[in-house]
Amino acid sequence: MRYSSTIQSLSPSVTLQLSARAKEMMQSGRDVVSLSAGQPDFPTPAPIVQAAIEAIREGRTGYTASSGIPELRKAVAAVYSARRGLEWTTGNVVVSCGAKHSLSILIASAINPGDRVLLPRPYWVSYPEMVKAYGGVPVFTAEEGITPREIEAAAAQGAVGVMLNYPSNPSGCVPTAGEMREIADAVADSGMWVISDDIYEDLCYIEGGTPHILDFRPDLKERTAVVSGVSKTYSMTGWRIGYCLCSGEWARLAGMLQAHSTSNPCSISQWAALAAVEGKAEEERRDMHRAFLERRDLICSLLSAEEYLQFDRPDGAFYVFAKLTVGGPLDSTAFCSELLDEEGLAIIPGSAFGAEGYIRISFAASDDDIREGVKRLGRFLHGRYDT
Ligand SMILES: Cc1ncc(COP(=O)(O)O)c(C=O)c1O
Repeated sequence: MRYSSTIQSLSPSVTLQLSARAKEMMQSGRDVVSLSAGQPDFPTPAPIVQAAIEAIREGRTGYTASSGIPELRKAVAAVYSARRGLEWTTGNVVVSCGAKHSLSILIASAINPGDRVLLPRPYWVSYPEMVKAYGGVPVFTAEEGITPREIEAAAAQGAVGVMLNYPSNPSGCVPTAGEMREIADAVADSGMWVISDDIYEDLCYIEGGTPHILDFRPDLKERTAVVSGVSKTYSMTGWRIGYCLCSGEWARLAGMLQAHSTSNPCSISQWAALAAVEGKAEEERRDMHRAFLERRDLICSLLSAEEYLQFDRPDGAFYVFAKLTVGGPLDSTAFCSELLDEEGLAIIPGSAFGAEGYIRISFAASDDDIREGVKRLGRFLHGRYDT
């Protein structure tokens, strides 16, 4: 059989692969500390679980409308209209099987073969593969972040769209208001569409939250798709509910693709997500946010004593993205693989995010695991690089 050369050209998800290997090692009895997780380690809040149980008991278990139950779409439209001071209605919202699927159907609906899409570096591991899977060509910023000049240059070379992700996975970076204003103006002039992946929007540790492109240029609303979901904010990664808000036509096309691929996201999960979006677990959300903030401070203070690492304190998400300053080029994939074998510590190589020589350390873990993980990392680094 001849398989699709497009799909054969994709790279597997390094993050999922490494987490799976760490899990296998744990199951075989090995003492493994995992600071690789891309998900909160808390249980889903009880009011959300309760909403799901009620949905099952009441028999709300059949197919739903393919773009999502109207109640959830309406609630998402209302919450985000209030949050951004703009007006979206039910027809602008598509509910999908996780924010990952929202991104996938939005990209599929926006690109034609050969279209270039600009990705700021370091980028989330799935963006380039999604663009390639739909026949597009990912192009990357030269350095970390994105500048107005790079947006201008990419547009001049035919880029049709740009993906933004703040707070960022992997870096936890949040731009200043001034930086976001410049990005917004440059994007507005470029004519490109925007997908703003805001999945970590509620895990922001700075006063005032994350500046958003639409706060500065609301006129970009018709060519901007906002993506978010309940996975990270409400510890619901396994429930698989994400959503997007975009123009009616973009939502129609993305919804049509979804209808022909998954039919609809899980009905029970949608009712659970409705409880989350309606604010039924606000206390739990605040508690988890506080815990992440404390862990961020803990891991940063532990890592700052480590001479072979250089990093900026993350302002959002739950990752520290650190440069390995070991005096020479470094293969981060080999580094993480050997670290896992020798010390039983799982972290993610920067190569997965287009940033060779870096590592991503998740602090979505207990204080004990954070302390033990940092200890193992230090032991490995000193065993290798001390002269
Ligand atoms: C930047 C980013 N976007 C999207 C997603 C996907 O979220 P979901 O689990 O809702 O599909 C993730 C998950 O790791 C992520 O880190």
